[in-house]
Amino acid sequence: MAGLPYIVGNWKMNGTRAMLAEARAIDRAASRFPGVQVALAPPFTLVNAMREAASDIGVGGQDCHVQASGAFTGDVSAALLADAGADFVIVGHSERRALHGETNQLVRDKAEAAQAAGLGVILCVGETEAERDSGSAETVVTDQLAGSLPQGEEAAAKLSVAYEPVWAIGTGRVPSVGDVGAMHRAIREKLTATYGEAGAAVRILYGGSVNAGNASELLAADEVGGALVGGASLTAEAFTAIIGAAA
Ligand code: G3H
Repeated sequence: MAGLPYIVGNWKMNGTRAMLAEARAIDRAASRFPGVQVALAPPFTLVNAMREAASDIGVGGQDCHVQASGAFTGDVSAALLADAGADFVIVGHSERRALHGETNQLVRDKAEAAQAAGLGVILCVGETEAERDSGSAETVVTDQLAGSLPQGEEAAAKLSVAYEPVWAIGTGRVPSVGDVGAMHRAIREKLTATYGEAGAAVRILYGGSVNAGNASELLAADEVGGALVGGASLTAEAFTAIIGAAA
């Protein structure tokens, strides 16, 4: 496995200030598992407060704009996220691709802008159920990578890739361990073809209905270097169990 297991919680559009109590509890739990790298991506509104409330976990954004600043009402740049204390940003989540029409090129531009601002990047890819059923899942995912992986000499250094089958997100359904391993091996191949040796160190996370019950099995699949967790990251109890499974 490339580096420590990386367990990242994506709070999506959830998280009032009251939920900082969960973040503090997750932070305390993370300090008991030094062999696991833990991070949370709250909504923008909580990034700074979470950074100040937690010291043992990474804190990140869920999206960023490609420009550093300017007349882009409602958008948040990587530079602003970094200024708020973020360490990383998620780009290309399937909810952004599907609901906001984000293309591979836009995702690549966001990843490159984030890295230029000093942020780590978690780049998401994944096939729909129809694409899985038609046998084209690997082609879809490797095409997404071809179009959206950041370019440049240092691009692999602050990069993780999250494989999230769209049909597994929030559904309680997960691919077989064999299918996860096969996809992660294909992603690894693409990463080394793109970045050479540096591609071997990029962590590849699995995401989609990860919970305390299935985390150990999924994390043991080939080339799985961690998990990107949605629903089960919203409470310290559920998320801590996943962190424990990664230890
Ligand atoms: O970013 C996280 C994923 O979309 C997974 O969400 O764990 O609720 O299925 P989920």
